[in-house]
Amino acid sequence: MTSFTIEEQNQALDYIIESRRTIRKFKSESPPRAMVEKVLQAGLLAPFARISVDREDFRRFFVIPRESDVTSKAANLIKRRSAVAYEQLEKRVQQDPIQRSRAERYLGALKMASQEGPPNLGKAPYYVVVAEQRGIPEVAQLSLAHCLENMWLKATALGLAFQLLSVTERMSEDKEFCELIGVPFGEFALDGCLIGYPDVSPAPSRRSPLGDVTKWL
Ligand SMILES: Cc1cc2nc3c(=O)[nH]c(=O)nc-3n(C[C@H](O)[C@H](O)[C@H](O)COP(=O)(O)O)c2cc1C
Repeated sequence: MTSFTIEEQNQALDYIIESRRTIRKFKSESPPRAMVEKVLQAGLLAPFARISVDREDFRRFFVIPRESDVTSKAANLIKRRSAVAYEQLEKRVQQDPIQRSRAERYLGALKMASQEGPPNLGKAPYYVVVAEQRGIPEVAQLSLAHCLENMWLKATALGLAFQLLSVTERMSEDKEFCELIGVPFGEFALDGCLIGYPDVSPAPSRRSPLGDVTKWL
């Protein structure tokens, strides 16, 4: 074990948590495979719902380099699925003006994804899909959120850009997508992200002051 003082540990951790941002602009240069593997390793170490899964390999990673022909195939399947999701949501909120207005931005994003594909897929050097075994209780998607957050923090520590591609979640319902990446259809929940070098350096995140959103009872 390394011997950092509590203060050193906290300085490093606080710095990484505070500097984590969504980066949606990537340099064209690809980070080396070893760097990507460090990000995946951090995801592998994230918590999982032991009560819900019964196998060692409950979590799998699929790395799709931009240059792979899988990238354009995946983008086409995501376009098709986004079009279906758009139609379904549009139909569901049609009769309810309040719901319709709440769904406005998401509908816009789905429409855009159905026409142009998900933003930055094909531009970022790597599309990483993470799969988590489904079980009872149905918490695979929650486990994936922990996994992706670990990956995000590790990417930040390595100076990499990271963008969630949460449209990947709905691709678990798409048999062709599951076959394309090689995950057994129906058995795994999915999530995904894009990784590369940042081509912007955004300011730290803005949030409400802690005191305004916290109540001690
Ligand atoms: C559940 C969830 C899904 C998200 N999905 C996407 C996504 O598909 N594409 C994207 O660019 N950002 C996505 N984001 C990133 C948020 O938009 C981002 O975290 C938020 O705007 C705050 O910015 P920050 O990450 O720079 O602090 C997602 C965030 C969460 C928590």
